[in-house]
Amino acid sequence: MGAIAVIGLQWGDEGKGRIVDLLVKNCDGVVRYNGGPNAGHTVVVDNEIFKLHLLPSGILHKDKANIVANGVIIDPGVLIDEIENLKQRGFFNGELFISDRAPLLFPYHKILDEIEESLRGSFNLGTTKRGVGPGYTDEVNRSALRITDLLSDSFGEKLRRLWDFKVRLFPVLEGRIEIDRVIDEYHNYLEYLKPYIVDTVDLLHKLLSEGKKLLLEGAQGFLLDIDFGTYPYVSSSSTSIGGVFSGSGISQKQLESVYGVAKAYMTRVGGGPFPTELKDDTGNYLREKGKEYGTATGRPRRTGWLDCVATRYSCRVNGIDGIYLTKMDILDGLPEIKVCVAYEYEGNRIDYFPASLDILENCTPIYETFPGWRMSGTELPPDAKSYIKYIEDFLGVNVLGVSIGPEREAFIDLC
Ligand code: GDP
Ligand code: IMO
Ligand code: MG
Repeated sequence: MGAIAVIGLQWGDEGKGRIVDLLVKNCDGVVRYNGGPNAGHTVVVDNEIFKLHLLPSGILHKDKANIVANGVIIDPGVLIDEIENLKQRGFFNGELFISDRAPLLFPYHKILDEIEESLRGSFNLGTTKRGVGPGYTDEVNRSALRITDLLSDSFGEKLRRLWDFKVRLFPVLEGRIEIDRVIDEYHNYLEYLKPYIVDTVDLLHKLLSEGKKLLLEGAQGFLLDIDFGTYPYVSSSSTSIGGVFSGSGISQKQLESVYGVAKAYMTRVGGGPFPTELKDDTGNYLREKGKEYGTATGRPRRTGWLDCVATRYSCRVNGIDGIYLTKMDILDGLPEIKVCVAYEYEGNRIDYFPASLDILENCTPIYETFPGWRMSGTELPPDAKSYIKYIEDFLGVNVLGVSIGPEREAFIDLC
């Protein structure tokens, strides 16, 4: 009984979808509570690849509840395409519920995302251009329309008023969309989505009071958190433990455990500091062998050694009870492997994750070096075990399982 949160500990793409797909066997449902169409969670089932953006990863499993809770920002067109794609492939298996409190994305959010990025010039953030930042900005600014507004008879009127307000605020939007067409389009979306819309707070509390076990599937990663991440090179939602509560409405009393997902090395898509980034052959090796190209955008991911200082920061703030370490197979065969254990900045040693981008961008990682290993079969060689033991001791958290491939069976349980 209770809820288990699964949180990415780095800059996203740690393999959260893959781990949730594994853990859902022993649960009754999966809840998405943050992010939106900027997320891309990959699940591989019998050589078929699924890339999920808004749907919880439990949707591929029969008889599981899949809840898109209030913290998720919804682009209804993307959501419907995703549902249709799974239906066509015969994999729309679970039950789906969508929160009536979730904020909506509109076409002008995407336009603003693109304009803002281009105005930032060389300081652009490298967003996914899905409109997520401008969409959440509307929510915080109390301008957003939510799913519940879509259900109301006055939706058209409300959207027209919002559009007038936006165009007056941002004349650059003038003439960029035909608001009457958008209103019609959203009415059509509503017809499609209506059967799935519920009060998910009420639903979650009912399921939990019936003794159901739920997984809370985080999107993005802690270092992209709006409050704790490498601001301003972050996403616009709360990717931390705080987002679990504000984005779903379950209470802290119902949360049993918090699991972290970490890659055995680091990656990052888009701009921002990355102290352990490798711009050399090893970095290219990790990118090519690890197929490090964005799930949502196809952009090449930046790669580097595991940053234990950053990952420990994530473990501390989120109260991580156990870690799933992914992509250990990608390190396999390297002559040596490094992990960052502190930073050096202007001759001083720093052992915490600094807020200042000036420091982060100019610090030199201090590394611990480990001998490489070669796996044969699914047994972890002694040197791989030593690497994991070192990480556990440094982070003060046990590694519960190790992923050695994208497929369901490529997993070593360490519990
Ligand atoms: P998410 O956003 O955290 O769900 O992660 P993504 O799906 O964006 O990126 C993770 C990528 O790594 C996907 O292509 C997965 O199929 C793949 N993957 C996950 N775990 C492993 C692993 O242990 N080994 C390998 N080789 N690939 C993995
Ligand atoms: P999942 O759930 C990796 C990054 C973008 C950009 C920054 C801001 O698949 O782990 P945004 O479009 O959110 O305004 O972009 O955040 N970003 C992600 N990086 N994985 C994600 O999600 C991401 N979602 C956003 O690349 O640097
Ligand atoms: Mg991803």
